Amino acid sequence: MLVRMSVIEINGLGKEYRRRRGGRMRAVDGMSLSVPAGGVYGFLGPNGSGKTTTIRCLLGLARPSAGECRLLGAAAPEELPDVIARVGALVEMPGLNPGLSGRQTLGILAAAGRLSRRSVDDALEQVGLAGRGDDLVKAYSLGMRQRLGLATALLKDPEILVLDEPANGLDPAGMREIRELIRRLGTEGRTVFLSSHLLAEVEQVCDQVAIVARGRTVTSGPIAEVLAAARPTAMSVKVRNLRGGARTLAAAGFGVTLADRRLEVAVEPARAERVTRALVADGHYPTELRPMETSLEDAFFALTGDPTGDAS
Ligand SMILES: Nc1ncnc2c1ncn2[C@@H]1O[C@H](COP(=O)(O)OP(=O)(O)OP(=O)(O)O)[C@@H](O)[C@H]1O
Ligand SMILES: [Mg+2]
Repeated sequence: MLVRMSVIEINGLGKEYRRRRGGRMRAVDGMSLSVPAGGVYGFLGPNGSGKTTTIRCLLGLARPSAGECRLLGAAAPEELPDVIARVGALVEMPGLNPGLSGRQTLGILAAAGRLSRRSVDDALEQVGLAGRGDDLVKAYSLGMRQRLGLATALLKDPEILVLDEPANGLDPAGMREIRELIRRLGTEGRTVFLSSHLLAEVEQVCDQVAIVARGRTVTSGPIAEVLAAARPTAMSVKVRNLRGGARTLAAAGFGVTLADRRLEVAVEPARAERVTRALVADGHYPTELRPMETSLEDAFFALTGDPTGDAS
């Protein structure tokens, strides 16, 4: 029997920090998620929602106060040495020496990790820096530096890539480059665990997502399902006599609110016919009836509550 293992398993993770002026704050508070092998998994939440702290716990860079993390089946931090060779990570921007070339930067890391020279060329090729590998890092654009950072994570040819906001600070073109690279990596049989505070960025590359707020998972699953569930279902209805129409719909059992020159009716678009029937039966003829658009941003805010998401 083939069992698809979770490559990342986080269960009831908690991480508390002491505040400088006394007391404690919970940066991560009961985070749970499970990442299947293969594809891109988005770890999405507003600033301060505990993404970096979770990733640090997962990689053994911070010690959890509660719960557990497993990476390729190994418990963090104790068992990580067994699997870390199969994991590439990029947590916040790595300090790159501006006086070295991209190739030298990777060469030093490859030597430290006893990896072949070949791995350097491969990594440069993967991130599209093969032609610029001998230029100094200080001559790189921000986007090129981010790609060099990704190359450092790719050196080991890892099964799992853990990337904490790899497109931070990039312009739309730079973001697209990183996005295309990540999508390609995710279709090569690797698993990419990608954190971001930008829903639009994640939506375009991820197969699955976990949406987090205030240190815990709000929802998770295939991205289409998560977003569909987050979207409220409502119809926008226009009739000449708005107040009369609202009374009719309320009497027929619909949740209805009077908005600016239209009615918002809580009903699935598939059942819109009932709205029309109720209105017409009472002498109100709809001049417009359409599903209300909910932007992805609205869905994200609806799920995470406070748009600032500040856990403090
Ligand atoms: N070393 C630390 N000491 C004290 N508090 C910390 C520390 N690291 C993080 N925090 C706090 O924990 C909370 C979560 O921070 P974290 O960096 O994990 O969020 P994040 O989701 O990665 O945010 P962003 O999108 O801004 O990167 C924040 O309120 C932050 O101030
Ligand atoms: Mg972060």
